[in-house]
Parts: sequence; structure tokens; C-alpha cells
Amino acid sequence: MYRSHTCGELRETHINNTVTLSGWVQKSRDKGFMIWIDLRDRYGITQLIFDEERTASELMEKAKALGREFVIKVKGTVIERASKNPNIPTGNIEILVSELEILNESLTPPFTIEDKTDGGDDIRMKYRYLDIRRNPVRENLIFRHKVTMAVRNYLSEKEFVEVETPYLIKSTPEGARDFVVPSRMNEGQFYALPQSPQTFKQLLMVGGMDKYFQIVKCFRDEDLRADRQPEFTQIDCEMAFVEQEDILNTFEGLTRYIIKEIKGVEIGEFPRMTYDEAMQRYGNDKPDIRFGMEFGELNEVAKHKEFKVFNNAELVVGIAVPSGNSYSRKEIDKLIDWIKRPQVGALGMVYVRCNEDGSYKSSVDKFYDQEDLAKWAEITGAKAGDLICVLSGDTLKVRTQLSALRMELAERLGLRKNDEFAPLWVVDFPLLEWDEDTSRYHAMHHPFTSPKPEQIELLKTKPGEVKANAYDIVLNGNEIGGGSIRIHDKETQAMMFDYLGFTPEEAKAQFGFLMDAFEYGAPPHGGIAFGLDRLVAILGGQETIRDFIAFPKNNSGRDVMIDAPAAIDEAQLKELNLKLDLKA
Ligand code: AMO
Repeated sequence: MYRSHTCGELRETHINNTVTLSGWVQKSRDKGFMIWIDLRDRYGITQLIFDEERTASELMEKAKALGREFVIKVKGTVIERASKNPNIPTGNIEILVSELEILNESLTPPFTIEDKTDGGDDIRMKYRYLDIRRNPVRENLIFRHKVTMAVRNYLSEKEFVEVETPYLIKSTPEGARDFVVPSRMNEGQFYALPQSPQTFKQLLMVGGMDKYFQIVKCFRDEDLRADRQPEFTQIDCEMAFVEQEDILNTFEGLTRYIIKEIKGVEIGEFPRMTYDEAMQRYGNDKPDIRFGMEFGELNEVAKHKEFKVFNNAELVVGIAVPSGNSYSRKEIDKLIDWIKRPQVGALGMVYVRCNEDGSYKSSVDKFYDQEDLAKWAEITGAKAGDLICVLSGDTLKVRTQLSALRMELAERLGLRKNDEFAPLWVVDFPLLEWDEDTSRYHAMHHPFTSPKPEQIELLKTKPGEVKANAYDIVLNGNEIGGGSIRIHDKETQAMMFDYLGFTPEEAKAQFGFLMDAFEYGAPPHGGIAFGLDRLVAILGGQETIRDFIAFPKNNSGRDVMIDAPAAIDEAQLKELNLKLDLKA
């Protein structure tokens, strides 16, 4: 028997019991006549004690020789601890050890395996299995498991069926590049790993499955960020015989349930905002609505003077920074430098100090009088003591820049609170998005998304203005999920492919199977996919999804632990009928 109890289990009620524990040596303190060891397993830490008076000298010697991260098994008696540790659940007791067995030795670990470690990111990723022994990482993985279980319970209860779909498929476009896998048996041909199970879940609806979900890996070859991994997990869902309203209600229910189960927080009805409104009020299609600082558009009250910068701009827009008038000139200059960085790219910023006496002092006093500035304050909602920050330029660019500033200032002001949850739906996304590089329209969500039926005609004249039955669910400024009502008839789907620049032959070659399926009684259907990694990270109060993934990739898409990707040998290349010509 390796253990009668775990290292997190023993309390004062166990005093005088003989117990057996197994685990890792986290720390050892050797006072010569007395040795204390912190023994760790997944469940906690229990202190072991060896002392000259009560412990055989042979055992004392053995205990002295134990190194960090040795795996040991001990037998001993639970005794009351002389100096108690209120910080851990087992802090009132310790084990007076009578038998010690070394199950495995360990090299000295490259970083300390404690809550606060001295290991940097790279080294912890290389030795991720050691990192997982640390409480914060282990707790994140258990947290993820709980969220996953809550999802499965809720959806199962609502009669959703979890169905697995294949990983070796043909490209499903979601806007990223595919990862491809060469086929040995089919020379010169490749599978693509799914960017999502989109087409399969639609085929399951044609198959009459009605309510489907899957917690599923997706693969996207795209630039990586804190909230993006090349392989990530979706809670992928689809329903038949539904309208947008049914989907929103069902998955609002799921999200509300998860937040209640996991965080104990009750959330009321989720606000809904159109894409246009989100862009106008927050400059962003995933607004963080935990705090205000809404955009105030100033065109009408800023373009009537001699200030060329504003007069030539498509949009003049500002936000009120609460208590921002306390910023020194130097601090404001730093803020201006911040928004001028290439990552944000603003050309400059106009600001207005809202003084306590009700007067204003702006960086453009030459052009605007107190009356003008009072109007700016009214529109941005600025109060005495605030600072108004104003940007101008092309609408889309300037909104993106001001949105970045809004988020940065909110972060600095502590307005983005981890324990507050503010979900919302963003609805009525544009169907198409103009791509400068290829000079054509792309599907903003994906090519299977249904235009608003009443706007189909508009596709011919103003395709950029057509809205889709597409929606995102946003939590604390992050897009945690997105979906749409699908096209379910062959003609509309063929028309969409046409708008997206596919020839009928290309459409048939890539999506013939779906078009064919639509000939056999496809029901109206729609769905959504949540990004599980993002959802879990945000519920955990963080935005870096890597911390909630057992074996994540770094920002270059590498797994530094197993050293992948890696070259493959000649024989394997030959078998796959692949030739590598790196010089070409
Ligand atoms: P979409 O592309 O919006 O929709 O993806 C759904 C959700 O998946 C998450 N996500 C990611 N998470 C981590 N790393 C990534 N690289 C990554 N990419 C996306 C986001 C996103 O909201 N098939 C459609 C869904 C549908 O229409 O039903 C789809 O995949 O949280």
C-alpha cells in the first residue's frame, strides 16, 4: 500500500493514528537534531518530522539524504504540531515518521516548485511536468476540468448529444491557415486539420441529430497572442429548427449556469448590442462593459473652428477619464507617447482638463473656447476632475486606437476587476468584410452564415452593408464565443460562394458534399462555438489562456518540451512521397 491518506487530508482528529503517505519532498529543514520535511501531493502538503530523541539514528541519516523532489513513502504517527501553521489545512498536525522508503530519486529541479517560483516562462515550459506540480498550475487544470464538467452536465441535461467529428478532414475555412497532414496512401494528397467542426456539425443537423455539442480540439495556423493558441478547444454546438432567438436564449442559459456553478455569481439577462452600436460606443466589437468611459462623437461640436486636424478627419471622438485631471503634464505626455507607439498608431491626442471649478483647459485652447469644451464634456460625460482624451482620423482606425486607450486607462485605473463578470451579446454582424490585400469580400464569420433574409437583395448593390444572422458572446472585453444561423438551401449557399469569389467548380470541389447534403432535406439550423480556453481563463480572472492548458505552445507555435515541430527523416519523407527542397 502506497498511502492510507493523501497529503491534504489529515487533521487533529487523526492524532495518534498510524498513517502511510506518499509524495514529493518539497522542502527540507535540517537543524541537525531535528529534520522537517514538507511532503507534497496533488491534495496538499503534510509536514513530516524526524527528531533525534524519537527517531532511530539510521532513519535520521536517511532523512538527511533526501533531496528536493525525491518521491518517498513514509509510515508514521499523526501528532499535534508544536508550532501550528494556520495557512494550510494540515497545519495543526505533523507525522512522526517511523519508516521511510525512497520510491524514486530526483535531480535537483531547474526551478523551485512552489507557488512563487524562481523559474521564468521558458524554463517552466521546457519542464512543464514539474510546473504542473506547482499549486497555481495544477489548480488551473482542475478549474478547467470543473468548467468542462459543468458544460457537459448542462448541455446533456438539455438533451444535447456529444458527437465526435473527424480530425483528418478537408479544409473548413474560419479565416486562418490550415495545418495539413500528408497522406501516405494517397500520393500527393493532404488532409487538413479542422479549424472547427463547422461543416460536420451542419451535416449532423441534416442527419437529424437536432441538438449537438462537442468539446473539441481545433487547429489554426495563425499569429499567436495571449488569447490564441494554434490548437485550442471549442465547446462547439449546433441546433436544428431554431431561430437566432432560440440560440441566444439557450447559450445565455449555459453561460449563466457556468458563472453561477463556478464563481457563485448570479447574472441577470445579458445585454444585447448591435455590432454598429458596439463600434460606435466602444470602438470595438467585443466591448468591456464592466466600466463606462463610452465614446462621445464630437464631429458636430469640433469641426466648426480653424483646427485643420479635426476638420480634415472623418471622425473626432473622445472619452472621459475619471479623475484624469490629476495627471501631470508629464503623465499626459507619456500617455500620448503610448498611443503613438506603432502597436496603437495614433498620430496625436488632444486633451481637455475638467477643472474642479467647472472651467476647462485644453491642449487646443487656441481654437476652442469654454463653451465648445463644455459641449465636449457633455457629450463624453466628463465631470469636474476628469480628463477628456480626443482622437481624430479615419473612422475605423480612430475607433480602434481610442478603444486601445480606453482599455489601457481602465486597466491602470483598476476598473477591469477580475471578480466582476459582464457578459453581453453582440448581434447583427456584417455578412462580408472587405479585404484590402485580395481586393475582395470575405465572409466575416464564415461562408455558411445566413444573411438577414430581408437584406438578401441588398447583396447585389451594397454587399458591404448586408448584415448577417451572426452573433458573438463577449465576456469582460473578450470574445468567448461566436456563431450564426446557417444557410440551409443550396441556392443561397451557391450564391454566397459566388460573392466570396469561388467559381462553381471551386465551390463544388471544396464544399460539394455540403451542397449535396442540402439537396436531401436540410432543416433550418444554427449554432455557436465557445472558446473553452478563453472562457476558463477569464473565469479564472486571467487573460492568458496558456496558463490553463496543460501543454501549451509558445508564441512561435513551438512545444519546447517535446521540441516540436521537428524535421522528419528521409525515409519518412519518402514514404509520404514528399520532397523537401529547402534551398528553393
Ligand atoms: P469562431 O472562429 O468565432 O467560430 O471560433 C469560436 C471561438 O473560439 C475561440 N477561438 C480561439 N481560442 C483560442 N485560440 C484560437 N486560436 C482561437 N480561435 C478562436 C474564440 C471564438 O469566439 N465554427 C464557428 C462557430 C459557429 O459558427 O458555430 C467558429 O469556429 O473564443
